[in-house]
Amino acid sequence: MPAGPLTGRIRVPGDKSISHRSLMFGALAVGRSRISGLLEGEDVLATAAALRTMGARIERDGDDWVVDGVGVGGLLQPDQALDMGNSGTSTRLLMGLVASHSITAAFTGDASLSKRPMGRVIDPLSTMGTSFTPSPGGTLPLMMEGMQPAVPIEYRLPVASAQVKSAVLLAGLNTPGITTVIEPVPTRDHTERMLRGFGAELTVEENQGERVIRIHGPADLKPCDITVPGDPSSAAFFAVAASVVPGSDLVIENVGLNPTRDGIFRVLELMGADIEDVDAREVGGEPVADLRVRHAALKGIEVDPGIAPSMIDEFPVLFVAAALAEGTTITSGLEELRVKESDRLSAMAEALSLAGANVEENDDGLVIEGTGGKPLAGGGPIATHLDHRIAMSMAIAGLVSRDGVEIDSIEPIATSFPNFTALLDEAAE
Ligand code: S3P
Repeated sequence: MPAGPLTGRIRVPGDKSISHRSLMFGALAVGRSRISGLLEGEDVLATAAALRTMGARIERDGDDWVVDGVGVGGLLQPDQALDMGNSGTSTRLLMGLVASHSITAAFTGDASLSKRPMGRVIDPLSTMGTSFTPSPGGTLPLMMEGMQPAVPIEYRLPVASAQVKSAVLLAGLNTPGITTVIEPVPTRDHTERMLRGFGAELTVEENQGERVIRIHGPADLKPCDITVPGDPSSAAFFAVAASVVPGSDLVIENVGLNPTRDGIFRVLELMGADIEDVDAREVGGEPVADLRVRHAALKGIEVDPGIAPSMIDEFPVLFVAAALAEGTTITSGLEELRVKESDRLSAMAEALSLAGANVEENDDGLVIEGTGGKPLAGGGPIATHLDHRIAMSMAIAGLVSRDGVEIDSIEPIATSFPNFTALLDEAAE
């Protein structure tokens, strides 16, 4: 039986990218930073645990978190391996931080993280002087020995990745001189915005269509009070759910709408979704609004690959919207999806097909023929491959299915959205 409409008002947890960075930059400031709205998901808690092992004090204080930083250059030698769990962001950003300290660190992770490519950060950080001993294929577990002083570099990103950009900039914080990252394709810019907020000397320039980001090291970071906006990547599941479940009228409060992150909402609107921004405002230096999403008949479109970096984590749930739209949705240029928490192209092609959707998998995208609003058959069990976004996307697909969708494990959801099922129950009551 398809689910009833989603109604009322919900508030999704804090942004994952901003939460990781709040803890990291707070740990490098001299003095006490206070964070409100921190995402308390497993990925962010892995970052907190690693930073504690390297000397920062991080504690919950009522609804807030407080971080007492050690200062740039002040991280201590950890006395145990840094367990990154499922979190690529923790791993790659912390590798950047460690790279310019005289620290030897071991990074470990779960089965999903241990398959993901680390060569993309090992390459630039090696040029700065750090040495690495990764597992075969450039993966975790790995050992690294930071370099102090490290050598500033100019690095043009070979792949559109905010994690790689951030790893180099964070290594640059404790590197004397100017470290430069050139970004041919813009990716989420939280590192740049927030480092400036913490007082780093960081400039961003446009040059022939590329972004040139320079950080002057060694930096002096001042503590900050941060309010973390709601995560647009989490809000996306509910925006799709309310769009595809007939009768829905749902307000998702406090959603971060940084233009490097809001691609999913723009694409849904192109498909005919009814999404209204209410009370647009700024929270913690980021644009934020409440989103009112009402059910609408979606139609298939060809998605411009240029928009991909601003919705890179939202494709799994977009594929669900496409499976229920009228007509064909064509996506391309999505090779990066194959190296996320799972291979998201093959995982979603397999999952949606099992649930009765009509999906064709190409090297760099999926082509999906939608049902025009008719419920999917449903079925399962869906293999989530330790990937939170596959689990949540298929839970949304289950709302518009005849027999429901069975998922092999909902445990991975706790990495980014611990109260997902509770909120879904609340909205669908
Ligand atoms: C993130 C960057 C993206 C994204 C990830 C979070 C970040 O990864 O997929 O969930 O916080 O910088 P890539 O840099 O690998 O694209």
